[in-house]
Amino acid sequence: MKKVSKCVFPVAGLGTRFLPATKASPKEMMPVVDKPLIQYAVEEAAAAGITDMVFVTGRTKRSIEDHFDKAYELESELEAAGKQELLAIVRSAAPSGINCIYLRQQQALGLGHAVLCAAPVIGDEPFAVILADDLMDGEPPIMRQMVDNFGRYGRSVVAVQEVPQDQTQSYGIVSVKPGTPDFQQVTAIVEKPRPENAPSRLAVVGRYIFTSTIFDHLRNLKPGSGGELQLTDGISALLAEEAVLAFSFAGTRYDCGSKLGYMQAVLAFARKHPEIGPSFEAHLAALDLPRG
Ligand code: G1P
Repeated sequence: MKKVSKCVFPVAGLGTRFLPATKASPKEMMPVVDKPLIQYAVEEAAAAGITDMVFVTGRTKRSIEDHFDKAYELESELEAAGKQELLAIVRSAAPSGINCIYLRQQQALGLGHAVLCAAPVIGDEPFAVILADDLMDGEPPIMRQMVDNFGRYGRSVVAVQEVPQDQTQSYGIVSVKPGTPDFQQVTAIVEKPRPENAPSRLAVVGRYIFTSTIFDHLRNLKPGSGGELQLTDGISALLAEEAVLAFSFAGTRYDCGSKLGYMQAVLAFARKHPEIGPSFEAHLAALDLPRG
């Protein structure tokens, strides 16, 4: 079976939920403590053994390319000032041994269309998709768990977690056949159903592995939820041809596409940050917050 060596990062979205912060800079560049969301995503892919990072990008997203590139002026100034530690931090923004490939999605037609834009680069290999605004914290990292299991089953995999009934309208929702505690076979998938129509409370979060068969179905997409070409509809069509597995991952997901989820991520990552963690923890203790 072919190895998963490529990951698609759809980063052309407008980030309207974070305006005005995202007026002139990409939502994927918002920092959680000291690293932008897209760096966490790339590090997660690299930790899964993925080497080719394929960014499907758009206008106003140039800073993502700069972030994973060499920063000549900054690096030479840090070098001249003997600031070796900072230099190492700057240089490690892109994990070693990765290739970054940038494609432009010229029109924001939807997530399904964004993933389809990567087809010429992916070819007929299985590949991962990471949505950087779903920040995942787990050990082993969530994409590593998924790649390992893809190696075992050879099936497309979507990461899922239970959400409250009143939130089904924010997600792709799957129905499944009972399987193992981690893996269940998807029987249906629907994008953003109203709570009363949702087939379950199992929501797809932003981690996927696909066989290249998905592209055949993405090419035939018609506008779906919100008038967009939805990845979920492509997965739904794929189900008629191939099994797709829902994976209940071990770890925590922070919805950094929402203000509340983003702040929860900042809090959690600040508490365990090697440099500021202990003093941040002391600060929280001094606030004397009621503990839940
Ligand atoms: C996208 C997908 C949805 C998925 C969600 C996970 O929605 O379309 O199926 O559940 O990501 O974060 P978006 O959040 O872009 O509206």
